[in-house]
This record gives sequence, structure tokens and C-alpha cells, in this order.
Amino acid sequence: MSPNLEKIAKYNKKISDINEKTISMLKGLLKLSRQPDHRLHSVKFLEVWESLYPLVENKLKYAGIELQGNFREHMDKRYLALVEYLAQVFLNLIINSIHSIEENCKKNERRYIQIDVYPGKSVTLFEISDSGPGVPEELIDKIFVSYFTTKQEGTGTGLGLSICRTVMERMDGEIQTKKINNKNFFEVRVLSDDA
Ligand SMILES: Nc1ncnc2c1ncn2[C@@H]1O[C@H](COP(=O)(O)OP(=O)(O)O)[C@@H](O)[C@H]1O
Ligand SMILES: [Mg+2]
Repeated sequence: MSPNLEKIAKYNKKISDINEKTISMLKGLLKLSRQPDHRLHSVKFLEVWESLYPLVENKLKYAGIELQGNFREHMDKRYLALVEYLAQVFLNLIINSIHSIEENCKKNERRYIQIDVYPGKSVTLFEISDSGPGVPEELIDKIFVSYFTTKQEGTGTGLGLSICRTVMERMDGEIQTKKINNKNFFEVRVLSDDA
């Protein structure tokens, strides 16, 4: 194998390792969420970001993916949520974007994940999109269904988005996607805590 191919193979394995880790963490969270005590707390977005960013920081750098959008301006905003749940939702969305970009975008194209925040008094909207091609129109209705995946065995389990939806509903929030001009926007609605 050429050194480059070897590098790519190693890198791909790393991504699937992380994905597996995420899934097992999510499974644990789901178990947790069935227990009665999952009351929501006042959570600053900074806490959420700090618990997930280190898990993807190197991967983003290595893949040359830039994070853009206005989310850094709203780090101090508070939500009624659980840090672990919200972190898992954003982690899964970011990892899905990394997978899509790695699979579909050439190295010389600009690669980005965009996270925009639209703060609201009772509900705040997060909008996550990426420089990949998005979800094919005919699959859009399927991606939140458990075990639906377009990825090879070992890379995807198809549980990420369905668990994201369960977890968001448990926080009285919402997750959905819409396609505009060949781009998928994942919309995450979280209860604002303005008190
Ligand atoms: N950002 C994205 N761009 C393109 N397709 C996506 C994106 N996010 C999710 N998908 C599609 O949705 C499917 C389901 O995602 P998910 O539930 O996280 O499972 P998995 O990542 O294990 O496949 C993916 O296999 C992929 O086809
Ligand atoms: Mg996934």
C-alpha cells in the first residue's frame, strides 16, 4: 500500500472507531433517559461545546474542515436541557457531516460545517449544514428511522439520528431536516432558558 493510501486507511479506521464510540455512548444515554430522573437543567452552550469539541477537533483539522456560522457568538446563552444529551446531538450531526464531506468532497474544494444559532425567547433554533451534497431527496424520509444507514458496515449503524430525535423529544425539543438548493439543513430546536 502506498504511504498515502495507508494514511487514508488509518484515518478512516479512526473515524469509524470514533463513530462506534459515539454510538455506544448514545446507547448508554438512551438507557439513562429511560430512567425517571432526567429533569432538565439550565445549561450554558459553552458547557455543551466544551464537552464535545475535543472529540472532533483533530478530525476536523486533519480533514481540513472549517467550522463557520455565528455559534461562537452565542456561547453564553442558556438552555433547559441536559449537557450530555445536547452534546451527543451536536456530536452526531458533526460526525455525520464529516463523513459526508470526506466521502463526497474533493480535497481542493472548500470544506466546511456551518452552525448558526437563532436565539428565541422560548425556543432557540440551531441550524447545521455542511459543504457536502446533503441527503438524496428520496432518502430524506428515512434518515431518522433506526438502523437506516447508507454507510458501510463498521462505519455506520444507522442509530445516530434516531437517537438524536429521541433525546431531543425528551428535552421537549425537536430535530428535523430540510433540503434547500442541494444542501441539507439540520434544525435543532432547544428550550431557551432566559430566566
Ligand atoms: N450531513 C449529512 N449529509 C449527507 N447525508 C447525511 C448527513 N447526515 C446523515 N446523513 C444520512 O443519514 C443516514 C443516517 O444517519 P445516522 O442515523 O447518523 O446513521 P449513520 O451515521 O450510522 O449512518 C446516513 O447514513 C446518511 O446517509
Ligand atoms: Mg451518524
